[in-house]
Amino acid sequence: MLTGPTNAQADHAMLPRATLEEEARQEFVASLKFHVATELAGTMKDVYLSRLAPEYERQHGHAPRDVREVAAVMKDQPAYRYWSALQRASQEMMWHAAQVPVEREAERINANARAVPETRGTLRLDAALEMPRYLAAVDIHCMPGNYHARAGGESDLSQGAVYDRGVYIYAMGRLGRRNEDLGASLARHLRGAHPDFRPRRILDLGCTVGHSTLPYCEAFPDAEIHAVDVAAPMLEYAHARARALGKVVHFSQQNAESLDFPDGHFDLVVSHILVHETSHKAIRNIMREAHRVLRPGGLVAHAETTLYRHMKPYDAFMLDWDARNNNEPYWTAFHHLEPEGLAEETGFGRENAFEWSVPSSAALPDADRTSGRFQAGDFGGSGYWYVFGAFRR
Ligand SMILES: C[S@@+](CC[C@H](N)C(=O)[O-])C[C@H]1O[C@@H](n2cnc3c(N)ncnc32)[C@H](O)[C@@H]1O
Repeated sequence: MLTGPTNAQADHAMLPRATLEEEARQEFVASLKFHVATELAGTMKDVYLSRLAPEYERQHGHAPRDVREVAAVMKDQPAYRYWSALQRASQEMMWHAAQVPVEREAERINANARAVPETRGTLRLDAALEMPRYLAAVDIHCMPGNYHARAGGESDLSQGAVYDRGVYIYAMGRLGRRNEDLGASLARHLRGAHPDFRPRRILDLGCTVGHSTLPYCEAFPDAEIHAVDVAAPMLEYAHARARALGKVVHFSQQNAESLDFPDGHFDLVVSHILVHETSHKAIRNIMREAHRVLRPGGLVAHAETTLYRHMKPYDAFMLDWDARNNNEPYWTAFHHLEPEGLAEETGFGRENAFEWSVPSSAALPDADRTSGRFQAGDFGGSGYWYVFGAFRR
């Protein structure tokens, strides 16, 4: 298991067993990503701050103010092009390194899914549900086969293992030993900031393999936990993984834009890095549905990476790399979202919108939290999560 720059992924019955060579390759990719995100990104930022931004200011009378102006300075810099090429290469290597052991182990992973003991948790699939076009049209973040691939035939759920292992390598372990940091951080924040809020029913939208869902079982042990996704292999894997870890969750295959739960059914609706993968129209539909299924007094909270207007222009430019280089077509538009306007449009009312900066629960090295040199953004590396949403009055 990966031990390099961070810690080791917590084992469970659904993870593939890597050979020593495969493990070494995964370790190498994580180390390469770490090098790119620290040494290369840090040096590039130093050069930008000490030389390139002051040069721009001398010419224009102001420092670069937004992603576009930083891009004008950076995009042809050899150091940036080198960093960008390595970042993209490491992304492709990461999926490949995660995929090879899964392909070899697919039969065992599928057999384990059938063998893990039942809990009171359930799985409801809908073979007629269509993948929304915004998701089906691209291999999002360069993941071969996207969320719905069944490389090994119609009951193969091993794509879930590619995601499970891939995310751990991607985040270099910085999302925690169960890749749980987004859910764990938001759940901890809710408990701390709203100690009287005792949700009885919680819904996690776009749950994938349940990384962020399971922390709610721990944070709110009396609540009934539901989780939906459109991708069947992810849900099948999530259901088996939850059982392997002894957690009770009710998974169902549904489009978050059009849920089959009754009105006012939930006290809390959450999502974690879902919204930036959906379209302008879908975000509005998802918020309207959240409003419908929430009871008065409940709330919806979406955990994401930070909106650009809350970031320094250089850091926003670096985060925007994904839109242009990592098959994230909705990334830029999402990072310009206006939560108050969205709350108004979708029935919550702008006065009920909120934006929170939620400290990350994962044990990050202090130096990375405070130095500003770690390439912040979607690695869980920045030390906090951006959460937006609205209260249902
Ligand atoms: C980046 S993953 C989310 C990761 C997960 N929430 C976590 O924290 O580990 C995005 C997920 O959202 C799902 N998704 C995208 N659009 C959806 C929709 N309209 N309804 C339900 N699920 C959706 C995708 O299938 C995918 O599994």
